[in-house]
Amino acid sequence: MSFFPKISFQGEVEKYLSKVFRNNELITALGTQEAESKYQSLLSHLSHPPGFTTVRVNTHLASVEHVKKLLFEEIQKQFKGLYVPIFEHPKLQDILLIPVIGPSGMGIRMTEPVYLSPSFDNVLPSHLFLQNLPSVVVSHILNPQPGERILDMCAAPGGKATHLATLMHDQGEVIAMDKTANKVKKIKQNAELLQLNCIKAFCYDGTKALAVEKRDEQEGPPFLPESFHRILLDAPCSGMGQRPNMVYSLSLKEVTSYQPLQRKLFTVAVNLLKPGGVLVYSTCTITLSENEEQVAWALRTFPCLQLQPQEPHIGGEGMRGAGLSLAQLKLLQRFDPSAVTLQGMDINSLQDSKEDDLISLANKDCIGFFIAKFMKLNSK
Ligand SMILES: C[S@@+](CC[C@H](N)C(=O)[O-])C[C@H]1O[C@@H](n2cnc3c(N)ncnc32)[C@H](O)[C@@H]1O
Repeated sequence: MSFFPKISFQGEVEKYLSKVFRNNELITALGTQEAESKYQSLLSHLSHPPGFTTVRVNTHLASVEHVKKLLFEEIQKQFKGLYVPIFEHPKLQDILLIPVIGPSGMGIRMTEPVYLSPSFDNVLPSHLFLQNLPSVVVSHILNPQPGERILDMCAAPGGKATHLATLMHDQGEVIAMDKTANKVKKIKQNAELLQLNCIKAFCYDGTKALAVEKRDEQEGPPFLPESFHRILLDAPCSGMGQRPNMVYSLSLKEVTSYQPLQRKLFTVAVNLLKPGGVLVYSTCTITLSENEEQVAWALRTFPCLQLQPQEPHIGGEGMRGAGLSLAQLKLLQRFDPSAVTLQGMDINSLQDSKEDDLISLANKDCIGFFIAKFMKLNSK
């Protein structure tokens, strides 16, 4: 079923991608035909919206049950009594999934965080955060503990930083850094709206966040080596996993500019992490160069790092093509929209489907995303 043409890229980007998704390792494992059909399916998925809208409940302020009830009433109001179910996720206790109904655009169209919607009568704004499913998974994988000191290196607008603070019951410190001043304001607004006090937001270039001499860190970055228990590097990336996207406008030069920037940020992150600390690296893109190749580079460059299993692991494994072993690929989590057949959901198919099948669909029919988790075993 296809209602939109496949995503379109500039010619040179298309050539680049088509090489990535027809690389030798992949072809050897899957065969030419399957690799080709997966790639074509990916291009179709990228131009279509994900099958579910995901909202994260601000469990710092309200229970999932309570918010589910309020959201259900709101949806009934918006859709004049049409029954649209809301699902909880068995492995992500703080999200609610709302199926996107029908190809004609009928459904819940929330292009801004829900809390900006005036129809929520100023009740839900502080209770909900619109966030895609893999982004919610990231903070659970970092698994911050109350009282710890956490660094979110590229934090705006603060979706993951506010989630990290929520998981810590607002106890400890989440340093949320971003390079762009206006975006840092957004982090502060979101923290305020969700009533999270342990977030400290700073406008700072993450590549310069490692202090070269002793200083008072209360002022903010730069920080001394080994200052953080856990670090999230949700890296600036080429963003090719975002959906729906009919026309991708970046040039090949722009697409390939992210790998060196990500490596600079990653190097600073490794230095800022305490021995025994955890580093999670994530992107919302589909290339090898910003994902599996970065992992291969990191393991070569920093012998102190060890790849870790992820919990929850609901996406697929890493993609072949960067020389990683099968055991290493299994430790990576790649959300690959082409892993499921593109299907529209109408009210009838929804009623006929089992909840488990719908959850399994929601796990796959989401944006393209990548997550790697490392532990720093010792000082370098
Ligand atoms: C993928 S977005 C982060 C999304 C965020 N983690 C969230 O969940 O809301 C990447 C961010 O990196 C920021 N950025 C780009 N270069 C940076 C740098 N050198 N230092 C810090 N932040 C940077 C961008 O401004 C952008 O907000």
